[in-house]
Amino acid sequence: MDVILSAVVLLFFTFIFIFINKCRRSWISSSSPVRSMLLGTMGWPFIGETLDFISCGYTDHPQSFMDKRRLLYGKVFKSHLFGSPTIVSTDAEVSRFVLQSDANSFVPSYPKSLTELMGESSILRINGNLHRRIHGLIGAFFKSPYLKAQVTSDMRKLLLQSMATWKEDRPIYIQDETKHIAFQVLAKTLIGLDPGEEMEYLRIQFQKFVAGLMSLPLKLPGTQLHRSLQAKKKMGKLVYKIIRDKRMNVSPDSRDVADVLLNDKSEKLTDELISDNMIDLMIPGEDSVPLLITLAIKYLSDCPKALHQLKEENLELKMRKEDLGEQLCWDDYLSMPFTQSVITETLRMGNIIMGVIRKAMKDVEVKGYLIPKGWCVLTHFRSVHLDENYHESPHQFNPWRWQERDMSSGSSSCFTPFGGGLRLCPGLDLARLEASIFLHHFVTKFRWVAEEDTIINFPTVRMKKKMPIWVKRDVHQ
Ligand code: HEM
Repeated sequence: MDVILSAVVLLFFTFIFIFINKCRRSWISSSSPVRSMLLGTMGWPFIGETLDFISCGYTDHPQSFMDKRRLLYGKVFKSHLFGSPTIVSTDAEVSRFVLQSDANSFVPSYPKSLTELMGESSILRINGNLHRRIHGLIGAFFKSPYLKAQVTSDMRKLLLQSMATWKEDRPIYIQDETKHIAFQVLAKTLIGLDPGEEMEYLRIQFQKFVAGLMSLPLKLPGTQLHRSLQAKKKMGKLVYKIIRDKRMNVSPDSRDVADVLLNDKSEKLTDELISDNMIDLMIPGEDSVPLLITLAIKYLSDCPKALHQLKEENLELKMRKEDLGEQLCWDDYLSMPFTQSVITETLRMGNIIMGVIRKAMKDVEVKGYLIPKGWCVLTHFRSVHLDENYHESPHQFNPWRWQERDMSSGSSSCFTPFGGGLRLCPGLDLARLEASIFLHHFVTKFRWVAEEDTIINFPTVRMKKKMPIWVKRDVHQ
């Protein structure tokens, strides 16, 4: 009896195995029109290679997914990720071409949960003239000396308040501290909100909102996506009220991003569109700057020589300004070459945004590869940033490598932490400025010992233990 049962079970599993493999083969052939040109595998039906991709993000070798395939198939290969047939580019030139293309060739593509949570007229989703207009207005404002002076003063005030509460007998969680400060700077920059009850309400709702950005695309009550949509509604009510109040008393001098958009004369920017965009602008702005600062502290903790040089440079400027009886202004913070190199190297190694996804609107040929209409392209920045052909000893934190290079434009084809082309991050100057201010006050006021912590790379880059450090106030301060 046992033998018969075992045989039946064995037969059953053999059939299942054959069936799955058959599905897998027909899936590969039916969905790969570029099979003859591009190598790669499409993985399992529906899920493709997504699980493999995600699981690598949780390991100590997040690059292993890409490295393995690059070795087998070359720098550009096909796969199936997040529900779409995808061409993965780990080649700087191909990625640059994709980033530089306009919406006739490629448009942004995001996981479904993210598009559900973004407004339809979000800067992250729209294309064409309206996108150019909003991107241009925001980018110009973020570059203005007025905004940089305001961010400097806000950031310094919030930072010094926060540092005054740090105790030497308990750990400071750098990731949390920086998040708290950066959110307040961002809300002031976007809608002119000062710290207080409304700010706290917005911050709490925003945390609930972002929790659903990479969730399952199910909107039923009780699901994460539903909770996030509810939080967005609450934020929307408050932000819309602020925008309406501003519209009533519109000031010709733009003091924040909302003012800039309200003052636009094109009459294309409705209050609803502005209000929605204020929340969507928080998505790229909120997490990235704290991560940049946290990772810089992590790398500096592991590289005493770089920390020493950074400290010297910042102390020297601090003393020079004190002798003159002046406070540092925004261009002072950005004037220290080694500090900028530390930030650049952190961006290269940290890969806060590992890459971006675009969808092909037509068949596009690049460098001999055909990207078929409807397919996605993942331009994988991390692979380029960690490619030894572009950056010598790429896994080594080496800020000195940037000393001879001019990175003021924010991107070159082998260094694209802020993307490129029409969607080049408008917040790049702001990110560098905030990181420079934090590093200046941190290294000139404190010595510290970092607890062991590790970097996690999925769904977003973050520190597993939030980067706990033990600080001691320095004698120099
Ligand atoms: C270390 C910090 C930051 C990094 C690494 C970063 C990275 C990026 C990248 C890679 C893109 C391109 C996305 C794409 O091509 O689809 C982008 C776009 C964008 N970033 Fe940033 N960002 C940072 C900080 C900020 C800040 C502080 C803001 C301020 C709100 C901001 C606002 C935006 C916006 C609005 C876009 C969309 C631009 C568009 O689609 O036209 N970013 N960012």
